[in-house]
Amino acid sequence: MIPAPATAPSRTALPVAAWAKGPYIYDADGNDYLDGSSGVLNVNVGHAHPKVLQAIEAQLGQLTFVHRTQFRNDPALRLTERLLAIAPAKTAAVEYSNSGSEANECALRLAFAYQHRRGKAQRTVILSEEPSYHGMTAGALSITGSPNKRDPSVEPLLGAGVHRVLVRPRPGRRRATHEEWGQALLGVGPSKVAAIVIEPLGGASSGAAPIDIDTMHWLRRETRNNGIVLIADEVMSGFGRTGRWWACDHSSIAPDILTSGKGVTGGYTSLAVTMISEKVTAAIAEPLGPIALGHTMSANPLACAAANAVLSVIEDEALLSNAAKTGTLLTEALQALCDRYPTLLSDQSGIGLMRALHIDAGQPADTNKRIIAAAKESGLVLCTAGIGTTTNSVLVAPPLNSTPELIDELANRLDKALAAVAGIRADNA
Ligand SMILES: Cc1ncc(COP(=O)(O)O)c(C=O)c1O
Repeated sequence: MIPAPATAPSRTALPVAAWAKGPYIYDADGNDYLDGSSGVLNVNVGHAHPKVLQAIEAQLGQLTFVHRTQFRNDPALRLTERLLAIAPAKTAAVEYSNSGSEANECALRLAFAYQHRRGKAQRTVILSEEPSYHGMTAGALSITGSPNKRDPSVEPLLGAGVHRVLVRPRPGRRRATHEEWGQALLGVGPSKVAAIVIEPLGGASSGAAPIDIDTMHWLRRETRNNGIVLIADEVMSGFGRTGRWWACDHSSIAPDILTSGKGVTGGYTSLAVTMISEKVTAAIAEPLGPIALGHTMSANPLACAAANAVLSVIEDEALLSNAAKTGTLLTEALQALCDRYPTLLSDQSGIGLMRALHIDAGQPADTNKRIIAAAKESGLVLCTAGIGTTTNSVLVAPPLNSTPELIDELANRLDKALAAVAGIRADNA
């Protein structure tokens, strides 16, 4: 056996999860944890939802795999139809993969192919933002603006195919505005840019910080006017997390390509989607025919059946409006905690049920990790976010079917954790 390197992170201290139901996870010792981050913002309809389990079990007995080059399958056909009905305007095609990273790889290949087939092969630059996170595969990581996810030893690989330019917000701001994007675009020269990749609502990198609406409109207008593909990475923010199907819907823009994953199957199986506009689809189909995309398990019937069941739960249980409603309650609860712990927390941000508590810049850099550890002790699971003192935060994102009572309970457990980190008792803080 190869010994683990001395620097490998130790996971031995993590509890062993035994089972889960609804918004709770239970460990092997019988402790319960409220899943305050819906896993990593993917378990959007909670654990062991009976309708999703039923659909998966039925599909298991009927058909689990056929390759898309050999057969079509009914769950994938139905899913594509449903996705086209909820996708941003003028979406014409859906490409399937297994992870958000792969969905972004697919988007990058489509953007380069789009440019190449229009005779614009010199467009090889991708503009993306720091902070951002687009995935762990080579291309997706190469456009990621998170120094903590990158290592000098992987840079040669990342530099090989994609020429990226990172756009940074002004000091003290969490997201770039159209001024920074404009400067970067002019600096590179719009005729060299293949695509701009954005997280409309930032996730693990910027901590549920949205791009402002004016900047969203500017990005849509400038990319359209300059022949640049606009890619919206909604791997985390998609499928109802913000109270609408897509974070882009909040600024009423339709990107040329939208990627999503995570919530599409609610964490029950692996699946991710790349939704492609008419404009890009048409350019790819002519004059050379479609390019090779996809993976062995792309559009497999089992994952598509799970996704269909999750979409039905979202629709039947009106979870978009529930996420918007309970998102308001969560905002109020998080704001009360910011007011209660002003030296620990600076503010909170987010849309719907994708929210974050931001750590005060005067606190030590590991404060978000300490809050998360204390939350675990109080029976609450949360995720870290951020790449520096301006963005250090804790993501708070319970399932879309949360109740007002669950939001209260989450806030109480979080209050205890914050009190422990602040060194005071929660009941007399
Ligand atoms: C915005 C965003 N893009 C891409 C990814 C990568 O997705 P995956 O981990 O499924 O490869 C993530 C994962 O957290 C994400 O949040």
